[in-house]
Amino acid sequence: VHPRMVRRILVTGANKGIGLAIVRRCMLDHSDTHCILACRSIQRGEAAVASLLSEDPAWKERLTVLEMDTASDASVAAAAATLTIQLGASSNLLYGYVNNAGIAAGTLAEILNVNVRGPRRVDCHFLRLLDPDAGRVVQMASGVATFCVSKCSDERKAFLTHPHGQDWASLDSLIEEVLAYPNGAKDLAPNGFGPAGYGYGLSKALLNAYTLGLARQHPNLKINSCSPGLIATDLFGDFIAEPFASWGGRAVSKILARWLAGALTPDEGTVSAMYLLFSEELETLPSGRYYGSDAKRSPLDVYRKAGSPPYKGP
Ligand SMILES: NC(=O)c1ccc[n+]([C@@H]2O[C@H](COP(=O)([O-])OP(=O)(O)OC[C@H]3O[C@@H](n4cnc5c(N)ncnc54)[C@H](OP(=O)(O)O)[C@@H]3O)[C@@H](O)[C@H]2O)c1
Repeated sequence: VHPRMVRRILVTGANKGIGLAIVRRCMLDHSDTHCILACRSIQRGEAAVASLLSEDPAWKERLTVLEMDTASDASVAAAAATLTIQLGASSNLLYGYVNNAGIAAGTLAEILNVNVRGPRRVDCHFLRLLDPDAGRVVQMASGVATFCVSKCSDERKAFLTHPHGQDWASLDSLIEEVLAYPNGAKDLAPNGFGPAGYGYGLSKALLNAYTLGLARQHPNLKINSCSPGLIATDLFGDFIAEPFASWGGRAVSKILARWLAGALTPDEGTVSAMYLLFSEELETLPSGRYYGSDAKRSPLDVYRKAGSPPYKGP
């Protein structure tokens, strides 16, 4: 394939789980793609590439590892600079990217830093590398966001579900407000954000509000968010089976997570992201939407089960 015809796609947190599964799907289903696995550990990124090459050595030319810790401004800036040097200065280096890196364990500050400020950092440095007329951004949100929003006060809910989304300044000041709570996640409920366990859900609800706002600022780009579904990964093990993780390790927690919650495989979790990256349908649809794991539109405040009718609201 002529280099100009190659569709370059960057996936953050691509060394395992859903991110790695998205890269594999690109390899299998879109022969014109080159994937950039943006990973915080080069070693883990290279191990992921090796696992892909054991399936098909011919993918070697279509895979690159890029060091990027989305929790760090300096790391994301350096990754964008490295990629620009590697690929040449052009406003059209990337066909699209997936803000997939995420965590469900850790302090509220860590979760908000990776799950909300992380995608923001990537957008600040990588949006300008997209094809300005057609570039695609996929933000990996979660169905847990809708559970969180449904438990919020009316005021918080109105903020998190505004049909135009929110600008970054408003979201950042809300993050600062939350980070200043003296009792961390325990202070979420008294401040209208639903139960303490929803710190992760809040991070994804903020990501959705941010995505809607960002899409309005960049009307030529296709910027959307999605849920992958309940997927048996390390993150899901952290989220659902924390008590078992300390007892039996990650492998056991993943098996339990799958068994307890009917979680699907990482490959099954790629449906919505692949739709948002590649579907031609998106050319005619407004962006700034949130999609469920079945690649159908979902509301921001009510959990829509995969397979049920798509959301038709504003
Ligand atoms: N699994 C589910 O059921 C589920 C449901 C809804 C949404 N999601 C979302 O799907 C996305 C992928 O999660 P997953 O389930 O595939 O989890 P996973 O298997 O634990 O993978 C998470 C990936 O994110 C990377 N990562 C974490 N922090 C990072 C950072 N600061 N910089 C760069 N990379 C970082 C991890 O890298 P390391 O290997 O270096 O840690 C790993 O590659 C997340 O955004 C998650 O919130 C998952």
